[in-house]
Amino acid sequence: MITINNKTIHLQGRDISYVMTVGEHGDLLHYHFGKKLGDREFSVPMSYNVWSAYAPEGYTLENVPQEYPSYGYADLRPGAYTVENTGGNEVSQLKFKSVRTERGAAEIKGMPCLRESSCTGEDHGAETVYVTLADEAAGIEAELAYTVFDRFNIIARSVVIKNISDKPVVLKSVYSACLELDANERDIIYLPGSWAGERQPERCRVHRGMKLDISNERGGSGHNMNPFVIAAEKGADEEHGEAFSMSLVYSGNHSTLVSCASDCTLRLMQGINPRGFESVLEPGESFAAPQSIICYSQNGFGGISRELSRLYREHLCPPQYSMKERPILINNWEATYFDFTEDKLVEIAEKAKEAGMELFVMDDGWFGARNNDDKGLGDWTVTRKKLPSGLKGLSERINKLGMKFGLWIEPEMVNPDSELYRAHPDWAIHVSGRKPAESRQQLILDITKPEVREYIIESIKKVLSEGNIEYVKWDMNRPMTDMPYPGYNHRYTLGLYEIADALTKAFPNILFEGCAGGGGRFDPGMLYYYPQIWASDNSDAVARLKIQYGTSMGYPVSAISAHVTAVPNHQNGRVTPLKTRADVAFAGVFGYELDITKMDDEGFEMIKRQVEFAKRTRKLMLEGDFYRLQSPFESNYCAWEAASQDGREVFLMCCKILSDNGIADRRVRLLGIDEGAVYKDDEGKLYYGDELANRGIMPEYEKRDFAAVIMHLTKCE
Ligand code: DGJ
Repeated sequence: MITINNKTIHLQGRDISYVMTVGEHGDLLHYHFGKKLGDREFSVPMSYNVWSAYAPEGYTLENVPQEYPSYGYADLRPGAYTVENTGGNEVSQLKFKSVRTERGAAEIKGMPCLRESSCTGEDHGAETVYVTLADEAAGIEAELAYTVFDRFNIIARSVVIKNISDKPVVLKSVYSACLELDANERDIIYLPGSWAGERQPERCRVHRGMKLDISNERGGSGHNMNPFVIAAEKGADEEHGEAFSMSLVYSGNHSTLVSCASDCTLRLMQGINPRGFESVLEPGESFAAPQSIICYSQNGFGGISRELSRLYREHLCPPQYSMKERPILINNWEATYFDFTEDKLVEIAEKAKEAGMELFVMDDGWFGARNNDDKGLGDWTVTRKKLPSGLKGLSERINKLGMKFGLWIEPEMVNPDSELYRAHPDWAIHVSGRKPAESRQQLILDITKPEVREYIIESIKKVLSEGNIEYVKWDMNRPMTDMPYPGYNHRYTLGLYEIADALTKAFPNILFEGCAGGGGRFDPGMLYYYPQIWASDNSDAVARLKIQYGTSMGYPVSAISAHVTAVPNHQNGRVTPLKTRADVAFAGVFGYELDITKMDDEGFEMIKRQVEFAKRTRKLMLEGDFYRLQSPFESNYCAWEAASQDGREVFLMCCKILSDNGIADRRVRLLGIDEGAVYKDDEGKLYYGDELANRGIMPEYEKRDFAAVIMHLTKCE
């Protein structure tokens, strides 16, 4: 609900209020974001200490919380935008001009954002307030959009900057949202990482005067830093304490700038990374910045994660797939790499079918001259040497087994050794007079060019029409270098969204999975097009504890693609039990990536039982709430739980990483269950809810390294 009362704008979500007000000098000031307030005129005045040494119009905003601050006039803290105006300077101050509300959610031209309708068909009361601010002297207007849903504790913010002058202005930075927090001891929790080690949470205290730029400038949203940040009060943990988060619905270079002013107040701003960014706006032209979702919880980080998980499932991911049970797949990548034949693939699929799997995915190596990673990218024609019956014939053979068929593509890339590159060398991103930097022997196609987008869309459409293809893994395997001009990365990102939009709309029944050298583009922007993303190329169960734990802080487990692979693990050489590999992968979109034809009987029988278990629990993983109970970053243990929202069904996974003696194992207390109920596990053993919640269970770990225990409980009626 949104109410406007005497220039005070009040947005109410399920348990939250967001309040802004127009100050006496016409500035849009921030009043409150937190627990819900009554819908009335507020009695506590906007108070702040004004001490500043300068006052451009007889007052300063230096100590005042604002909605969309500028730098360099009434405030010298970092500003939310920079415009080089017609006078050749960057001074600006936006003042309130007008406000309007609309039913429904804000839309952003050419970019993904929250969907107004829930995929469940329920009306969640989306409403948006648009506040227009203007600075005539700088020649710009900013329209700030704030969407609230009755059902959620989030505000989705975005901004459009318009040139209202008669000369070009240059937009040099544009954050999508600014969040002002009171002086308090606060920690920042963020998700840095690397290839094969994505989203490993770090926590640090922000002290007076500090600036942290939690950002990525490597082309996509990145292995190295995810566009998700929490600011929590000192002492907040998984289930307790006040926490605010910001998530950017964007897949390009991003930044969340955290700055703690000299008065200890905290300003967080999230948006496109200003490094290498620029947009020249001609008179009348506008620039739309991506959406930033801010969330509030009084129940620690877990509260944030569960809120965002429900939101993304219902209002972000493609509605036709978001809440639909996903097929259990087998992918041939780690089984064969590039070295396969049609018969070998069918042999894997046959055995996988026998184990109960439902989808066979053919990974890299099926097109052009692609026998290793140095050639063929861009040539989207099937190689008959490997697949004599083509995609049509192969998909028919797989379908005949009773399995769906899917395939891998990497549409944004080209190998210099490819027909495409030989025909169109100018289609690869480059700067004139410089040889472009190769990574994995490949270059990036310049999808800011309409003809390149058209080539990609048409050639992939042709491929996807050649057989009965029901799943696509969309990969992207290198960072972006050689950007030809400032602002290029944003234009590339818009091109990517255009292609993703065209292909997902043309094939609404194909389940798309995102991938970028593992989890290099795991962000809310991509989740708008793909309901699931390959979380990491590292599929070792112990590494995955950390990767999946970290990823679940900002994303639903229904989006985390997780596979059981062979040992020794191909990325780190670790040998973990087959049971542990599956137990960890169950909390995600479950699948396999190994040569199942090489399993011994015992292993094969175990896989059959795992597949059967995954089928029984996948609805719970899709719809349930996720609780992180023990952190692998803080101890030798990891435990997590998925509980259905009505508390009727529970999945618990506990892992003791290294075997040791002498120290008692840690009990695990369940959350989100009915303490008055009795639960039964799959063997029929009974447990009282109050004991599970308050005393906790002691997992019976095998005496070995990497031992995992799972429990599946249902409430007795
Ligand atoms: C990187 C992906 O993350 C892998 O799963 C695999 O698809 C390879 N690319 C194929 O080249």
